[in-house]
Amino acid sequence: MKILVFGKDGQLGKAFQEELDERTSALLAKPIIQYVGRPECDLANEEALNQLLNRLQPQLIINASAYTAVDRAETESDLAFAINSRAPEIMAQYAVDHDATFLHYSTDYVFDGEKYGFYLEGDLRNPLGVYGKSKADGEEAIARVFAGTRGNDQYAIFRTSWVYGDGGNFIRTILRLAKEREELKIINDQFGVPTSANWLAQVSLNLVLDEDARLRKFASGIYHAVSAGETTWHGLACLTAQAAIDAGVALKVTPDAIKPILTIEYPLPALRPMNSRMSTDKLYQAFAGRGDVSELQYLNQPWDKAVRSYVTNLAKDGLI
Ligand SMILES: NC(=O)c1ccc[n+]([C@@H]2O[C@H](COP(=O)([O-])OP(=O)(O)OC[C@H]3O[C@@H](n4cnc5c(N)ncnc54)[C@H](OP(=O)(O)O)[C@@H]3O)[C@@H](O)[C@H]2O)c1
Repeated sequence: MKILVFGKDGQLGKAFQEELDERTSALLAKPIIQYVGRPECDLANEEALNQLLNRLQPQLIINASAYTAVDRAETESDLAFAINSRAPEIMAQYAVDHDATFLHYSTDYVFDGEKYGFYLEGDLRNPLGVYGKSKADGEEAIARVFAGTRGNDQYAIFRTSWVYGDGGNFIRTILRLAKEREELKIINDQFGVPTSANWLAQVSLNLVLDEDARLRKFASGIYHAVSAGETTWHGLACLTAQAAIDAGVALKVTPDAIKPILTIEYPLPALRPMNSRMSTDKLYQAFAGRGDVSELQYLNQPWDKAVRSYVTNLAKDGLI
C-alpha cells in the first residue's frame, strides 16, 4: 500500500511520522509512505499538486497540512481558501477517481459558538472568520466530490480543536511567557478542548488501518475528534504552568498570578467561537462496534492528563 502524508513539517504531520513509523516498523509487508511538505509541493499550485498525486499514486492520502494563521487569514483570504478548500478538493477528486481513502482535518472554528452544549457533526456551520470559512468550504467541497460515489473510495474529516504537538501552539507560548513575566492575563470565557496531535494521529490511524496497516472500511463523513472534558484558555494556561512547576521548571509566574479576562478585553483580528465543545459520540460509536476496549479507553483520554504528560515531556527534553 502507498500512503501519502501532506503537511510533514506541521504539528499533526510530525505526529503522523512518529505514529506511522512506530506502527509499521515491525511489519513484514511495510507500506510505502511518502511525507510531503511545502518544499516538495506548494499546495497553492494546483498543477503541482495534481502532478504529485498522479506520480505517487497513493491509496491513502492524509492531509495534515492547512493554512492555520487564524488572524492573518483575515487579510489573506485567497491563500487561505486555496490551501484549506481548493487543495483538499483536488485531493478528494484524486481519491474518488482512483478508489483511494482520504483523511482530512477541520476545526471547531466552522461553528459560531452560539450553541448551548456540545456541537454535533451535523450542526449548522456558521464560521465567524475567514479561516473558519475556508475550512468550512473545504469540508463542503470534499463532501460534494464524494457525493454519490459507489467505488471503494472513502473519506473522513476529523474536526478537532486547540491542537498541540511538536511546533508552535498555545501551551508553548504560555510556557515562554511564564518564564519572562510575573503576571499573565488569559481569556476565560471561551470553552473548548485541548487535543494532542499524537493522540489525533493515533485515533485517525485506528479508524482506517488494521494491525497490519491494511485499509479498513468505515463510514465516510465528518467525525469530531477531541480529548475528553473541557476547559477555557485560562484553565489550560493554569494547568500548563502547574505541570511545568511540578516537573521542576523555574517559572516567574505561578498559576494564581494568571488572571482570567474576558474575550472583549483581548481583541484580535478574527472572532473566535465562545463555545468550541464538540461531541465525540459518533467516533465512539464507530469504534464501539469493534469491541476493542483499549481503543475506547484511548479515545476517552482526559485533556488534562494529556497536557500534563506533554508538558512533563517538554521539561524532560529541556524544551521549556
Ligand atoms: N492548531 C490548532 O489549534 C488546530 C485547531 C483545530 C483544527 N486544526 C486543524 O488541524 C490540522 C493540523 O493543524 P496543525 O496544528 O498541525 O497545523 P500546523 O502546525 O500549522 O501545520 C500546517 C502545515 O501545513 C503546511 N502548509 C501551509 N501552507 C502550505 C502550502 N501552501 N503548501 C504546502 N504546505 C503548506 C505548513 O507548512 P510550513 O511548515 O512550511 O508552514 C505546515 O507544515 C489542520 O487541518 C488545522 O486546520 C488545528
